[in-house]
Amino acid sequence: MAIPDSFIEELVSRCDIVDVVSDYVQLTKRSGSNQFGLCPFHSEKTPSFSVSPDKQIYHCFGCGKGGGVISFIMEIENLPFRDAVAFLARRAGMEVPDEDGDKELAGRRARLLELNKSAARWFYDNLSRPEGEKAVSYIQKRRLTKRTVTNFGLGAAPDDWYALVNEMRRRGFSDQELLDAGLAKRGKNGGVYDVFRNRLIFPVIDVRGSVIGFSGRILDDGEPKYLNTPDTPVFSKSRNLFALNLAKRSKRGMLILAEGNVDVVMLHQAGFDCAVASLGTSLTAEQARLMSRYTKNVVIAYDSDAAGVKAAQRAIGLLEPAGLQVRVLRMEGAKDPDEFIKAKGPDAFELLLERSANHVEYRILAVKAKYDMDTDDGRLGFLKEATELLAENPNAVEREIYAKRVAEYAGVSAEAVQSELRGAMRKNSATERKKRERQAMRPELTVQPAAKNIRYENVASAAAEEGIVRLLMADPELVRYTEGLKREDFTSGFLGGIYERVVSRATEHREVTPAVISATLSPEEASQLTRILQGPVNMGNAREALSDYIDKIKTEAVKKSGRRDLLAVRDKYQKKKGLGG
Ligand code: GTP
Ligand code: MN
Repeated sequence: MAIPDSFIEELVSRCDIVDVVSDYVQLTKRSGSNQFGLCPFHSEKTPSFSVSPDKQIYHCFGCGKGGGVISFIMEIENLPFRDAVAFLARRAGMEVPDEDGDKELAGRRARLLELNKSAARWFYDNLSRPEGEKAVSYIQKRRLTKRTVTNFGLGAAPDDWYALVNEMRRRGFSDQELLDAGLAKRGKNGGVYDVFRNRLIFPVIDVRGSVIGFSGRILDDGEPKYLNTPDTPVFSKSRNLFALNLAKRSKRGMLILAEGNVDVVMLHQAGFDCAVASLGTSLTAEQARLMSRYTKNVVIAYDSDAAGVKAAQRAIGLLEPAGLQVRVLRMEGAKDPDEFIKAKGPDAFELLLERSANHVEYRILAVKAKYDMDTDDGRLGFLKEATELLAENPNAVEREIYAKRVAEYAGVSAEAVQSELRGAMRKNSATERKKRERQAMRPELTVQPAAKNIRYENVASAAAEEGIVRLLMADPELVRYTEGLKREDFTSGFLGGIYERVVSRATEHREVTPAVISATLSPEEASQLTRILQGPVNMGNAREALSDYIDKIKTEAVKKSGRRDLLAVRDKYQKKKGLGG
């Protein structure tokens, strides 16, 4: 008897390939998200066996073996498919169902989805009935528009113990089904009653468009503030994300991860249609993997309080291993995205998004996360690396502000950090002086050694070239759309060189981070690069922008060659008339 597909899917999603392979192979993280180890299938001395956590596959560059978690077990345990599945099921604490069982389950699930759909419809319709008045005024208070309400299918659960139960019975659903869907609970007297009462209802819709559960916010100050559908045969809160059904269609090329449902809804209303949230729990590895199926870029927009910052650090630890490029928004002067947008408007949020890359504070926090701040050694390491980071910052005010922050984190005085910082900056300028001296002995260099910025011959073209570098570093996947642009097409050798590195790394699916790319640059070039990366990137129109930049470069090239032709024509003409010189 065949093993049902749904079971295989679930099994694979529960057996992380890194976990499973790690039982047999010692893996170490190298560049990028891939992990490497010695191939268990052929004998080798240097690791060429790679495991991709985001793709959930393994591949050996030596012997060419590769596949998913099940084929790995078949291969290494020398088991046929069925036995490999049973092997993994045991490991994951699951029971392999037979086909009949699956048919029955599939039927039950279909009924529950139908019930959910019907309930969602009813919640929504309540908004135009007297029972929904309280929810309607709450919606108005939170400044959600009619369009938003329809877009999300928001609804009202009346302040009543039996309203939904009665209606769904009338529509032909059984009490058992209501219980199974998590819409009802059994009371002490044996009857069933509504779970969602006096709440604004947010249906949770999966990427296939099925209503799989609900999240309900209380309409007054009652407790608990939010109530979510428990795990049911059709709903697992750790494996779904609120609004991913909408966000997956976004053209922004990223996902914004927020904490609250209201934040997500408000973000969409303000035009940030790529916002999602986890469902009343902290982010899970499964959710991170789910996100990585739709994008390579995630911007965390958690609440700005201490809990939010901590949750963001935790989320980074889950998102990065899933192969995602993570940025963190800092919302100054507002508690969360909802509040921020209401106070400062969508444009201000757009700016936040554009600036989220390379944010000083975020980079410091990233450094902090690398060290064990409970030990002296850890704090020392942090202090050293963080001051080096600050020393590269050309903005004196920012240096001052963040030196204080670093001092707080490291538990030392601000003066101590300032003096450390001065040392690091002296060292930088000493390195720069030595470099200038070296360059002075290399006359072929066109770069002005003393100049702060690298000089561009063709400023118009270079602006477009910078734009390309910025876009590709933000989303290396865009290399697919560079239309055969070559290093030689760049008027700036510096930018052309970076472009070439980015393209070659991206096509090899290797990490393309500023840290990696700048590793081979001179400090001067590296700072030029970081400067370039400070500029705005609009990922929503990334492909159009990229193609505009390429056009610009080509136009500039034509202009230049055109002029040269003209010059040649003129020279010929002048020579003919005997006027040349
Ligand atoms: P508002 O206070 O209405 O702006 O809601 P919010 O969406 O901003 O929520 P908040 O920041 O308080 O919490 C973030 C998320 O955590 C919510 O969207 C819920 O998913 C979850 N959450 C908050 N309170 C509760 C609760 O009492 N129970 C559960 N299960 N989840 C909660
Ligand atoms: Mn809120």
